[in-house]
Amino acid sequence: MSKLKFVRHPHPSPVPAAKRAELLANPGFGRVFSDHMVTIRYSEAEGWHDARIEPRGPIPMDPAAAVLHYAQEVFEGLKAYKTADGGATLFRPRENAKRFQQSAERLAMPSLPEELFVEACDLLVKTDRAWIPDGDGASLYIRPFMFANEIFLGVKPSSNYLFIVIASSVGSYFKSGADAVSVWVSQEYTRAAPGGTGAAKCGGNYAASLLAQSEATRHGCDQVVFLDAAERKWVEELGGMNVFFVFNDGSLSTPPLGGTILPGVTRSSLLTLAKDKGIKVREERYSYDEWKADAHSGKLREAFACGTAAVVTAIGTVRAPEGEFKIGNGGAGTRTEELKAALVDIQRSRAADPHKWVHKVF
Ligand code: COI
Repeated sequence: MSKLKFVRHPHPSPVPAAKRAELLANPGFGRVFSDHMVTIRYSEAEGWHDARIEPRGPIPMDPAAAVLHYAQEVFEGLKAYKTADGGATLFRPRENAKRFQQSAERLAMPSLPEELFVEACDLLVKTDRAWIPDGDGASLYIRPFMFANEIFLGVKPSSNYLFIVIASSVGSYFKSGADAVSVWVSQEYTRAAPGGTGAAKCGGNYAASLLAQSEATRHGCDQVVFLDAAERKWVEELGGMNVFFVFNDGSLSTPPLGGTILPGVTRSSLLTLAKDKGIKVREERYSYDEWKADAHSGKLREAFACGTAAVVTAIGTVRAPEGEFKIGNGGAGTRTEELKAALVDIQRSRAADPHKWVHKVF
C-alpha cells in the first residue's frame, strides 16, 4: 500500500441499477462509463498528493493548460474481469504501471509509483464493481491517464500534472464482431521514427495515426498497418495494436521492439504462452513484400492483431493501393484461436495461472 490516503466522495446519485443493466446489455467499446473516477495531483513542490475517489465528471481546465497546447499526456489500458466466486481481477496491472512510468519518462513527466497506480485501479474496480459486465467478450476497461496542467504557454515540461483513472464497461473492440478483420497498409504515413515516441503510450501517437486510420476506413478496412519510417518496408504495428504472423511450420513471429513499437502487455503474454506450448517464436523484422509473397505461397498461414482492447483478433484481408490479398481462408486460423483461448482462459480465471499474471482485486 502507498502512503497516500484516498479521500472518498461517493456519488450522491449513481446510475440506477435498471438503467445500468440496460447500458451493460450491449456496451460496445468506450461509450459506457462507470460512476466514479480516481484523481491524484502532482506538483513540483508537493509531489503526488490530493488522492481522491469521486463522482466521474467534467474536469475544470484553464484554456492555457499545457496539455491543450503541447500534448504532454500518457495513458494506459487494462481490463477488470468478474470471477465465478463474485470477485474481480486485473490482468498484469504492474506491467501497465511500469509502462506508464516509461511513457511518462519519455514525455518528461513525473513517475507515478507502481503501488499507487495499482492501488488507484483497484479502488476504482472495487467501488464500481457493479459496472463489470457479464459475458465472454465483456469486461471493465480501466483507463489510467496523466496530463500536464500547468497554466503556461512556454514550451517546457509542466510543473503540475493530474492523474486520473476512469472505467468503461466494454464488449468487443471491433464493431463488426467478425472472426477476422481487414487491414490497410499505409504507404504515405508512418507512426513512429527511431528516437521518437513510438514506444510510449502517449495520446500524440494516436493523434498521428488518425489520418491513416481514416484512410483505412475509407478503403473498407478495420485497422491501418504502419510500415517503418526509415525504409517504408518493415511491418511495425497497427493503429492501436501489435501484430503477429503464423507460418506453415507452426512458428510465430512479431516485429521486434526497438523504440518505434509499443511494448504490448498482450504481445509479451502471447510470446510467453507460445513458448510454454513449445511453439517457436521469433521477434524479427518482416517486410510487407514478404508478407504478400508468403500469403500467396501459403508459407504464411495466419496473422493476428493483439492488444488489451482487441485481445487477439485474426487478420483475414490485407489491402494496399496496388491490390489486396487474403491470409489463409480469410477467417481465424487454428493457431490464432489456440493462443487466444490460452490467454483468455487465464485472464478469466478459467485456467491455471503459472506466471501469476492474475491480480485479485477482491
Ligand atoms: C488498448 O489496447 O488498451 C489500447 O490502448 C488500444 C486503443 C483502445 C487505444
